[in-house]
Amino acid sequence: MAENFDVKLDKKTYIPDPSYQANSALGDYKKAYAEFLSDPDGFWAKKARELDWIKPWDKIRDWEWPQARWFCGGKLNVSANCLDRHVKNGRRNKLALIWKGERGKEEIYTYRQLYRAVMRFANALKNLGVKKGDCVCLYMPLVPEHVIAMLACTRIGAVHSIVFAGFGAEALHTRIRDADAKVVITADVGIRRGKFIPLRSIVDEAVKNAPSVEKIVVLSRERCPVELYSEMEVDFYAIQEGVSEECPPEEMDSEDPLFILYTSGTTGQPKGIVHTTGGYLVGTHYTSKYIFDLKENDVHWCTADTGWITGHSYIVYGPLSVGATVVITETTLDYPDPGVWWKIIEEFGVTIFYTAPTAIRMFMRVGEEWPNKYNLSSLRIIGSVGEPLNPEAFEWYYRVIGKNQCPILDTWWQTETGIHMITTPLGQPMKPGFAGVPIPGVVADVVDKEGKPVPAGQGGLLVIKEPWPSMMRTVHKNKERYLQYWNQINHWYTVGDLAVRDEDGYIMVLGRSDDIIIVAGHNLGTAEVESALVAHEAIAEAAVIGVPDDMKGQAVKAFVVLCQGYEPSQKLISELIYHVRMTIGPIAMPSGIEFMDKLPKTRSGKIMRRVLKAKEMGVDPGDISTLEE
Ligand code: PRX
Repeated sequence: MAENFDVKLDKKTYIPDPSYQANSALGDYKKAYAEFLSDPDGFWAKKARELDWIKPWDKIRDWEWPQARWFCGGKLNVSANCLDRHVKNGRRNKLALIWKGERGKEEIYTYRQLYRAVMRFANALKNLGVKKGDCVCLYMPLVPEHVIAMLACTRIGAVHSIVFAGFGAEALHTRIRDADAKVVITADVGIRRGKFIPLRSIVDEAVKNAPSVEKIVVLSRERCPVELYSEMEVDFYAIQEGVSEECPPEEMDSEDPLFILYTSGTTGQPKGIVHTTGGYLVGTHYTSKYIFDLKENDVHWCTADTGWITGHSYIVYGPLSVGATVVITETTLDYPDPGVWWKIIEEFGVTIFYTAPTAIRMFMRVGEEWPNKYNLSSLRIIGSVGEPLNPEAFEWYYRVIGKNQCPILDTWWQTETGIHMITTPLGQPMKPGFAGVPIPGVVADVVDKEGKPVPAGQGGLLVIKEPWPSMMRTVHKNKERYLQYWNQINHWYTVGDLAVRDEDGYIMVLGRSDDIIIVAGHNLGTAEVESALVAHEAIAEAAVIGVPDDMKGQAVKAFVVLCQGYEPSQKLISELIYHVRMTIGPIAMPSGIEFMDKLPKTRSGKIMRRVLKAKEMGVDPGDISTLEE
């Protein structure tokens, strides 16, 4: 855990145009926050009433540490809130989805078309035997059918578990097994940088020894009939032929699970974060409407993948629940050239753009001539998520993309929190490097190990002191792990991040306090990469650390001890990197591998990654009294 340390804070601020606050749904932040504090349950009830409930709740919350239930007794359906509500209320012909494929292909869905497509696919899933509470795993490229499959699951009460299609077979297998997925939905191929990724073959590998899987639904990217290789496989479109387009939404309890999403943990086993129906939808709807300030004419583009929580909350559930027009694309940020994203903003008139610091830093490096070729004047708000937005990247983003006008929402949150929790609401002064303040509804603090708030300028641990509706409810099959979030300091939710606050209460998140590395905004557990390395026959032991990387924020550096009979070589390094790529996926590939005779360990045998890190960075390793030798 963190020691106390001082942080030098820059005092620079940017004052947004007052019209932003004046026209925002939230209005004055301080007033909104005070209203929340004066009646937290009333605050959330008001937000929840903006959604359609089949049956209203009896009680707003039931909090018995560490378990929260929200909108107890309430019944609703997520897809009905994202579709039916809009179809009935004047948004029938409004564009819901605009898709742009890597090879320039475009598709659009109005709310009515999406509604129909979701009901058809929901019926097809039912015909495959999928029932309320069953788990469906999605391993798909970012095409409209991905969103359709998500919403279809929620329509019939199936729990989806989306696995990022950049993960390898082993990572997919672990997640399918843990969630006991009954059906896996995939595509024949994904497309990335002009290359085809054989998703279906990866699934075939991953479902071996996964006895829960009964069917694999395969989408043909070119919409031609799919050649089926086994009895388990069915064609995404063939199973929809002749099915009814009417599928009434399943009545779901507010606390019924909505999805499982795996995130890296400090052990080798990824954690299946479980979110539930009512609380999650209230949270994503609230933050989309009041913090992102999504309005009727906005065109919203979040560049994340649906495989991450950002995609769940701010490509699909939040924006669609408010009835927005959402851009989705599978394009890579610099393919075929680094202008491709700016071209999309110009073409579709994107008004709200949400991306990650790693992307911003990549664009900084290739130069502002790329965005300057395009007309970005449609942009109104620009956002960032996934890791700290460093002041240099903030300034570039503000000046080059936001044209010194668009407020930047640097949003801090986690898979576990479901929604963004800390940011700089519209109208508040922006401070580069700081995510901002807790949004109304969130009680956050920066404290020491004993739970005492640390003074301004001093580092500490970020905690959330009160439950909130979209908090995770458990870690799938691992209640113990869930408990660990809540039993470290004063029964508060301990986030695992180090942070510092300034005199105005602005919070700067500095990074993780545990063994998680954030590569290009993606969470990687050191243990997961280490166990992949150790699974290679040449490796006896492995330790990995995060090292600073100009582009990705952090990169993975590995230290390995070889088994007897193996010699260090460049060929082995390449082989190991390839092995990690195939096991976990490209994001986990080490940027460097160093051979060691032994790893630094505590007397109790725990690897001291801190010592490796200090050596790598050329700094003092601090207290090494527990080091073995
Ligand atoms: O360390 C924080 C960092 O990402 C972690 C959560 O990762 P994940 O669950 O994968 O979710 C990422 C997308 C929500 C956090 O514990 N993080 C996320 N956003 C920020 C951030 N660090 C600093 N500033 C942010 N805006």
